[in-house]
Amino acid sequence: MSLPPPEEKPRYVRDMFAGTAQRYDLMNRLMTLGQDQSWRRRVVEACNLPPRGRLLDVATGTADIALEALNQRPDISVIGSDFTHEMMLIGQAKDVARRLPLIEADAMRLPFPDNSFDAACSGFLMRNVSDIAATFAEQRRVVSPGGRVVCLEITRPATPIWRDLFGLYFHQFVPRITALVSSNKSAYDYLPASTVAFPRPPQLKTIMESVGLGNVTYRVLMLGTIAIHVGEVR
Ligand SMILES: C[S@@+](CC[C@H](N)C(=O)[O-])C[C@H]1O[C@@H](n2cnc3c(N)ncnc32)[C@H](O)[C@@H]1O
Repeated sequence: MSLPPPEEKPRYVRDMFAGTAQRYDLMNRLMTLGQDQSWRRRVVEACNLPPRGRLLDVATGTADIALEALNQRPDISVIGSDFTHEMMLIGQAKDVARRLPLIEADAMRLPFPDNSFDAACSGFLMRNVSDIAATFAEQRRVVSPGGRVVCLEITRPATPIWRDLFGLYFHQFVPRITALVSSNKSAYDYLPASTVAFPRPPQLKTIMESVGLGNVTYRVLMLGTIAIHVGEVR
């Protein structure tokens, strides 16, 4: 499958997530063999929020990172934003304590003044945007100096044997699993295609540095298939 051109990507991505919202959480658990929530826990820890800190979860989707943050740190305040209403409706239903404001917004034009948060994070967003650097720059803008920008994404392993196994998993197993729970054929072709096109961890680090984030580090998990990048706002 070829990816949509940049100008059509936002609409394509929004339609795809609107169509898969009802099954999104189930698909996540199946495709990651139940590991995805542990990565979200690590993202919240990596945000390193101060007492009563303010966190923005960009592209919150069904709000799993945002709700994990409130669970882990009941003292903080969290806002979730996303441009797919249908995804956030699922998240809203899970927020039984009604503690999580969810705001419809494009990750490349966040409706918040500069320095509004102590950290901004995103999970599985960056593969889907038409301009990765601009999206990081927007997160850097809304985070106060000293705060962090944290990114969780799928990546391709560097080691040849894992790369081959990952290729099999992603091009054979994932489309079959996705087909079981989604009737949208392009959704299950899009995921492997967008991952192949996505920068490897060292390149993503360079992109983060190019928008002024400092001390950028990353760690890879799950046999090199998942990366968490952390940068500091200077
Ligand atoms: C794979 S889901 C991830 C959801 C959630 N962060 C998680 O950890 O499960 C990607 C989300 O990014 C959102 N998204 C993609 N591009 C976006 C953009 N430009 N602005 C806002 N949201 C976007 C989609 O609507 C979708 O909810």
